[in-house]
Amino acid sequence: KQAVVGVGDSHADWLFVGEGPGADEDEIGEPFVGQAGKLLDNMLAAIQLRRGTDVYIANAVKCRPPGNRTPSEDELMACRPYLLKQIEMIKPRLIVALGGSAAKTLLQQTDVKVGELRGQILYAQGIPLVVTYHPSYLLRSPMEKAKAWEDLCFMRRTMRSLKEQTSIRPDS
Ligand code: URA
Repeated sequence: KQAVVGVGDSHADWLFVGEGPGADEDEIGEPFVGQAGKLLDNMLAAIQLRRGTDVYIANAVKCRPPGNRTPSEDELMACRPYLLKQIEMIKPRLIVALGGSAAKTLLQQTDVKVGELRGQILYAQGIPLVVTYHPSYLLRSPMEKAKAWEDLCFMRRTMRSLKEQTSIRPDS
């Protein structure tokens, strides 16, 4: 129906990147408004964050892939310039890739395993990036929620130290 660009604070410290709009998102024009979105909102709340307040939410692809399938490499590459422009405009301190599609396009890697990338500080366009599971995956695999909680704690610690680094000014 429509391109779903993103939602939130256009100068947010946090940029969360999902995969692509589903049926609900395509209908409403906002990312993560369905079941996965409810879980994402709960994940944000667990680290004292709220959609729209210092948080921007975008997707790797801006249009709903037919039949809700995973976006192809070509589709990821076609939408990548829009995502890079969003990063350039928002200038987040930290990017959170939610799932493999976001990690793939942000890291420009074809073979991505979320389980192997989580818990590390990576970089996309020179900005620190962490990878965690996609909320839809967590809905299907609730046993992995404990790991997602570890990732949330890790990203909160990472943001804290990023803020500390910029508040330290060398003596003049
Ligand atoms: N899943 C996503 O990756 N993005 C959305 O916007 C909704 C569900």
